[in-house]
Amino acid sequence: MTDGSGARQFILPQAFHIHFRDIDPQHESLVDVINDCADQLVDGELREFESLFSAFVARLTSHFKYEEDQMAELGYHGLEWHREHHQECLSRVRDLIETMREQGYASLQDLRICFHDILHDIARADLKYGEFLDAQRLRT
Ligand SMILES: [Fe+2]
Ligand SMILES: [Fe+2]
Repeated sequence: MTDGSGARQFILPQAFHIHFRDIDPQHESLVDVINDCADQLVDGELREFESLFSAFVARLTSHFKYEEDQMAELGYHGLEWHREHHQECLSRVRDLIETMREQGYASLQDLRICFHDILHDIARADLKYGEFLDAQRLRT
């Protein structure tokens, strides 16, 4: 249950900010969905998870496309690897949703896994892209 303080459970650390175009607001909006889910846990369970998680998958899919499109536009050499990495992230989330369907609810642990998936995308792939942007002097 929410404690009524309005405090967010999941917060993107400063070190995970990319500072380029709309990437950070999109990462934040993914974390927002996870926080909305956390706010709606009742006794550690979120039974009405389908619409929230379909919103999460839709946002994640369009975020990945946004990154891949701009990487293509900028001639980023790591695009193919990054694209595969995105597909792995998406399939992990889809597997997780299947697990939640089997158990009948989303737990805080499931939300943590989703949050870590967002962090994983940033730490393993997006920060590398940031280095490319710096090398191209595209980031200010
Ligand atoms: Fe990303
Ligand atoms: Fe990415």
